[in-house]
Parts: sequence; structure tokens; C-alpha cells
Amino acid sequence: MEFPDHFLWGAATSSYQIEGAAQEDGRGECIWTRFSHTPGNTYNGDTGDVACDHYHRYRQDVALMASLGLQAYRFSISWPRVIPQGTGAINPAGLDFYDRLVDELLAHNIQPFVTLYHWDLPQALQDRGGWENADSIAWFTNYAALMAQRLGDRVRHWITHNEPWVVAFVGHYFGRHAPGKCNLAAAYRVAHHVLLSHGEAVPAIRQVAPGVQVGITLDLVDFQPASESADDIAAAHREDGFKNRWFLDAVFKGRYPDDMVTRLGATLDGLDLDTVQRAAVPLDFLGINYYSRNVIAAGPHGPLNTQHVHVDGRPHTAMGWEVYPDGLRNVLVRVTREYAPPALYVTENGAAYDDPPPVNGVVEDPQRQAYLAAHVQACAEAIAQGVPLRGYFAWSLMDNFEWAEGYRMRFGLVYVDFATQERIPKRSALYYRDLIAAHRAAHSSPA
Ligand code: FCB
Repeated sequence: MEFPDHFLWGAATSSYQIEGAAQEDGRGECIWTRFSHTPGNTYNGDTGDVACDHYHRYRQDVALMASLGLQAYRFSISWPRVIPQGTGAINPAGLDFYDRLVDELLAHNIQPFVTLYHWDLPQALQDRGGWENADSIAWFTNYAALMAQRLGDRVRHWITHNEPWVVAFVGHYFGRHAPGKCNLAAAYRVAHHVLLSHGEAVPAIRQVAPGVQVGITLDLVDFQPASESADDIAAAHREDGFKNRWFLDAVFKGRYPDDMVTRLGATLDGLDLDTVQRAAVPLDFLGINYYSRNVIAAGPHGPLNTQHVHVDGRPHTAMGWEVYPDGLRNVLVRVTREYAPPALYVTENGAAYDDPPPVNGVVEDPQRQAYLAAHVQACAEAIAQGVPLRGYFAWSLMDNFEWAEGYRMRFGLVYVDFATQERIPKRSALYYRDLIAAHRAAHSSPA
């Protein structure tokens, strides 16, 4: 497998999923605290109150990353930890935490990639309407500028949003994520404001931190029609419009796809759709999160009139997601051809499995190792086809709070015993360590 010289190997996490310390050092409440503490919303009633206790164990966790040879680490900032009410008073202890984390990473030669919004909106802002309120554009931009001012001298890579589709639709239409709404018009309103906040934040970040690289992370799916029939092909195209093109077209073309706008009709009433051109600011890179493909048939379900087809006989992860590495290559190649981003990173890719307990200090997870190997191979194939892929981040560094699934879904390369907070490498972590070492050896210039 061929990877360019400066290709970065990393792992990713997010604040609410690992930090814990939910009530400490002045952190404000976030929508996930409220949502997870509301009965019925998460598996087993799990919350992120403690999670991986990373807030207290970050030094040990950075040492763990270094022991795996990671060259980059993608994490997110908890907005309510640094601005407890979302706007107004700043919490110095919160800023100090991220300062120390960044310094610790740099001391270990690990490049920080900062995501500004990975879903933990301050509850105080939700109480003011959250992302449905157009003021959220300014709230986010001010927060982004604050962080860039504080960390921009050391953090070179900034991601405004993680997966706007999930924020909008899983949070406001399917209701499975905080804030738990079920209203399609509200979801499109949220998507619009999140996209505009991205467009405003990018120049604001560059203004206070000249020379940094700024991008956004989208969750993209390879949609494939269940048959060659015109109906199934059209259905797959609609799903692609809903999930992929709505955001790609906004960010790269400054417009929403016509077919979707027509289809959605009155659902979009009250939105000034033309303003989406403000979301299309030149980016330094696009982050792509990829987990699976979806096979789509025409069907009776939902506003898209589609049906997701389960492909029997193919491997699936514990989440029920089909293992389909070719889809990662397809997505990377397609985005490069249709949208020409200057650079790409795979900012998340990984799999949940029911891991066995540790034996002799290691967890055997052959399926995750195979998933990782196959998807890294797909990255190499994409690069060979001309994709400007600059790095790969495994999701996730360690087992963590998997949102509505609580702690039962383990995505980590490293196993976490949540009773003791012990970190135990899985076989996949050791495989990844060796892969990174081999890449480095192949590219180190002879002395
Ligand atoms: C992505 C999220 C990430 C994690 C993985 C499994 O959608 O960005 O936080 O939950 O899925």
C-alpha cells in the first residue's frame, strides 16, 4: 500500500464522549447532559457524566497515543466548558484545560486537529432556541474566534462542525439525539443555520489565527440502488440528496440541490435559501466521516419514499452497519471529481463490535482489525486514483459514550474498563501501531 510522505495517521474522539467532569471547574450544562439524564433517551440510561474521565486522565491518554505512534489527534472542544452559558462570561479553567491538552500533544509530536462543534451545545443556548434560532450563527462565530485566538498559535487544523446532517436530522427530525425533536422543518432550519455558522466562522478563525487550515467534517454515505430499475436509482439519488448533496452543494457551490428543494416544497418555507451562498467559503480541506454504504430501493417510507435494504450474507458491525470498504473509496473519488476539494482527510472511520474481555493485557478484536485494514486499503486505492487524501483518523482512540447507545457500543482501538478506567489495547491498536511504524520506516530518509 502506497501513502504519500506526509500522510498523517491519527485517531479521533469528541468532548462529550470522553471527557466526563461534567460538573467540574465551572463547566456549564450541555444538551447531551440534559438529554441523557431524561429517562428513555439512552441505552441503560447511560450518560457522559464520567465517560472516560479524560478530563483528569488526559496526560495518560496522550502518552497512550504516543505509544501507538499516532501523528495526529482529532478532538473537540466542549463549548459549555469554555463559555458555560454559550455566550458571555468565559470560564478560564475550561480554556486552561485545552491549553494543557494541546501542549501535551505537541510535546509528544502529535498534531492537534480541533473540532469546534461535536454536538454538545450549551443548554443555555438550547433554552434560547438552539440552532433553530438564527442568532446561533453569531453565537458560534464568537465562540470559534475565542478558541482560535487562544489556541491558534499552536493548533494548525480547525474543523468547524462535525456532521451537520446528524445535528440537524438525528437531533431534530428522528429525535434520537439531543435535543430530541421530531420536526422536519425545524431540522432544515437547523441545517441552514449550522451551514451559515460554518461560513461565518471560517473567516473569523482565519482573522485571529492567520495561516491555519480550516475545514468542515461531513458524514457521507455511499448510496447504491437495490436494482437497475429507474425507481430504485431515483430513490438512491434522493437519499444522496438528503444526506450528501444537501451539505456538499451548500459548502462547495453555495446552493442547495434543485431536485431536493422542489421535493421539499413547503417544508422549507421561511428559510431564505439564497443565503446559503454564505456557507461556500474557500476551505483548506474537507473532513469525511465514513462508516458504511446504504442500499436503497423505492419504497413507502418517510418524506423520501425510500426503503433501506439489508444486504444478507455481508458482514455487519454491532451497530448493524454493513462493512463495505469500497464505499470509502467511492466516496473519496466521487467528492474529488464533483467538488474538487483542495485536500481531504478521513476524519472518522471505524467499527463497533462486542469485544471479549481482556486476556493477558490485550483484547482480541479480529473483526475490527480487518475493518481497519480494509478501509486503509480503500484509502490507498483512492490516492492511486488521484484523491488528495492527506490523513486518516480511526474512530475511536478508545471506547466511549456512544450517544444514544450509551457504553454498549465499543468503537475503540483501546478498550476501556469503565469500572476502573483502565485502558487496555485491543489487537487492532497494536496492528495500527505497526502499520504506522511501517509507513514511517518506509518514508524516513536515510541518515
Ligand atoms: C459519528 C460521530 C461519532 C461517533 C461515530 C460512531 O457519527 O461523529 O461521534 O459516534 O459516529
